[in-house]
Amino acid sequence: MTGNNIYPIFEKMQGRKEKEELLRQHGLMIWFTGLSGSGKSTIAVALEKALHEQGFLCRILDGDNIRSGINNNLGFSAEDRVENIRRIAEIGKLFVDTGIITLAAFISPSNELRKMAAEIIGKENFVEVYVSTSLEECERRDVKGLYAKARKGEIKNFTGISAPFEKPLHPDIALDTALLPVEESVQRLLDLILPKVSMKN
Ligand code: ADX
Repeated sequence: MTGNNIYPIFEKMQGRKEKEELLRQHGLMIWFTGLSGSGKSTIAVALEKALHEQGFLCRILDGDNIRSGINNNLGFSAEDRVENIRRIAEIGKLFVDTGIITLAAFISPSNELRKMAAEIIGKENFVEVYVSTSLEECERRDVKGLYAKARKGEIKNFTGISAPFEKPLHPDIALDTALLPVEESVQRLLDLILPKVSMKN
């Protein structure tokens, strides 16, 4: 028994290894970081499709399924962003421990936040993908119209405008969607990821 009357049943459950053997793949977290509108979700969706077509089971976590659901009580203050990423990392860990290739697409604007996520999930299970599209380009595209609102002061704490974004120090890969077509980004990611998720016989 641990504290708080929690009774672990881990040793009775099927383990990660058994699940990975069932799926014939290794679990992995592919963590996309970058500004709003940088292309994180677009690349994640295309990568998921490519992996799925090759027989790999994936799960995307992004604002649509996380901030509208489990994290719908969180905003964009520094504290809420920590809690946002903490919960995403804990959820991601469950997927990775189930042998699933998990793609998380969140701004995650600081090295401290990304480090926290990597530590929760386990560094050996964590690939950091920096979608390095510049602020100028993201603002020029302004797909959601949010940069214009942020410039007018209608959105507070907007990343890149009135809240910081720290570039990752040592990403496993950096992809600038102003320079690379999506297919090229996906190919580079596949080259990096397939050796990590493929099961050798
Ligand atoms: S994070 O900083 O906590 O990692 P997250 O990726 O979940 O952010 O959410 C970012 C998305 O929320 C943006 O793409 C944008 O659509 C929306 N958003 C709304 N308000 C803000 C804000 N103040 N700063 C950044 N993104 C915001």
